[in-house]
Amino acid sequence: MPGGIQTEVKTYQMFINGEWVASKTNKTFPVYDPSTEEVIAQVPDANADDVNRAVASAKAAFEEGPWATTTAQERGRVLFRLADKVRQNLPALAELECRNTGKPIVEAEYDITDVATCFEYYGGLATKVVGYVNPVPDNAMSLSLKEPVGVAGQIIPWNYPLLMGAWKLAPAIAAGCTCVLKPAEQTPLTALELAKWFDEVGLPKGVVNVVTGFGESCGSPLVKHPDVNKIAFTGSAAVGKIIVKEAADTVKRVTLELGGKSPNIFFADADFEAAIDGALFGVFINQGEVCSAGSRILVQKSIYKKFVDAMAEKAKSIKLGPPLERTTKMGALVSKEQYDRVLSYLDIGKKEAKVASGGGKSDKFAKGYYVQPTIFYDVDNNARIAREEIFGPVATVIPFDDEKDALKIANDSPYGLAAAVWTRDIFKAMRTVKSLRAGIVWVNHMQPTYVEAPWGGYKQSGFGRELGPSGIEEYLETKQVHINLNEAAIGWY
Ligand code: NAI
Ligand code: MG
Repeated sequence: MPGGIQTEVKTYQMFINGEWVASKTNKTFPVYDPSTEEVIAQVPDANADDVNRAVASAKAAFEEGPWATTTAQERGRVLFRLADKVRQNLPALAELECRNTGKPIVEAEYDITDVATCFEYYGGLATKVVGYVNPVPDNAMSLSLKEPVGVAGQIIPWNYPLLMGAWKLAPAIAAGCTCVLKPAEQTPLTALELAKWFDEVGLPKGVVNVVTGFGESCGSPLVKHPDVNKIAFTGSAAVGKIIVKEAADTVKRVTLELGGKSPNIFFADADFEAAIDGALFGVFINQGEVCSAGSRILVQKSIYKKFVDAMAEKAKSIKLGPPLERTTKMGALVSKEQYDRVLSYLDIGKKEAKVASGGGKSDKFAKGYYVQPTIFYDVDNNARIAREEIFGPVATVIPFDDEKDALKIANDSPYGLAAAVWTRDIFKAMRTVKSLRAGIVWVNHMQPTYVEAPWGGYKQSGFGRELGPSGIEEYLETKQVHINLNEAAIGWY
């Protein structure tokens, strides 16, 4: 990509069956820079016809193409080459991600590094998928074989666009599946840039298709398609529920990652400085547009007042600024829709609780979807701002009495993606870890995420696990094979 990725308005095509194509209708839709509100690209507006084309090509690639006979080692190498491309083009990809999402450039660079690491991890794991010999009580050999699930439909959100793409594509490719990836309509650009290297790194045509479009007109046909064997989805709980229903007719495998309202629990004995830092980092990183955001901050009453004051004071130092500036610590929200949604929750919050800092849009900028980091306190756990996922820079601080009270509040949520606990008391820490109903629990930290460790939620945060060895299991079927070693007839009749 000499000269970097173009950032002037550019009309993209999408990637189906190894070719760059427009949508069948030739329609496109605009993609924005949310920090300037300007259109930066046009992408194809794919509908069911385009999805059918992509699925047909993925099906053919799975059944007939050279992909069906590639070895695990070859698939691993494809992923290593893809990782190399990402690393070589990191500055351009990070810049494009930053422009399209509004997130700070420094965070976008971490994301793109994580993309490469994810491809490398699953590149290595490709050759470590093993079956079993089952100890059946007979003169026979019983095997469990691991096979790819087939065509995977992958629907991803806009908060970590290319990283969510990598979390879905890497294990699928390692497993030997073929894919139809649908990026979020707000942020399809880095996935399209990635597709430019598919051929060169050795992905045969049809193995990975990228279709750009909206949820109902492009995502839903993918979910309903009879030739799609599995849907992997990350996004809102509302859409997750629709997907489960729509996938039921064809009994698809479904994995869902649906966000949450994660508790970040601070006991009085926690290191105070680290705690304040951790509370802010847990909820404000990536403008709070994080599925695992520690958006319910539970603080023990004996330190509560001091804690709220210190959080509010420190929040003032969070530098809201243009995403491309390296000193920026919080950028713009991803879209007008998300901006309006977050602002409406700020109105709701002002009626439900007290404001310790922030509370509105930022008046520093003439354009762009900037919202002040906002801290509500004296929040009741039954308040809407404590129950509903806001997905913006909005913290709710809730006081608690003791360990029992903290756990009751923490687990009183329809969600169960993540949680964190801060204390220097190992007994209290471990009891809390054990009692929290969440798929990810951090102790004295919040948010570090590693490709080596499983990611996913309890309760309405979804089911299935991504990342780690579990991530590839979700793209595998198990075939039981019984090999009779008795040459004599059964002799039953
Ligand atoms: P969304 O769930 O509507 O969108 C996520 C993806 O699903 C996008 O690719 C979208 O095109 C697709 N989609 C939408 N409707 C669909 C349908 N009927 N069938 C198939 N695919 C469909 O999320 P949205 O509207 O962008 O954000 C709304 C809220 O969702 C956010 O405020 C946040 O609370 C939550 N969210 C959670 C995420 C997470 O990481 N868990 C990521 C994005 C949003
Ligand atoms: Mg939506």
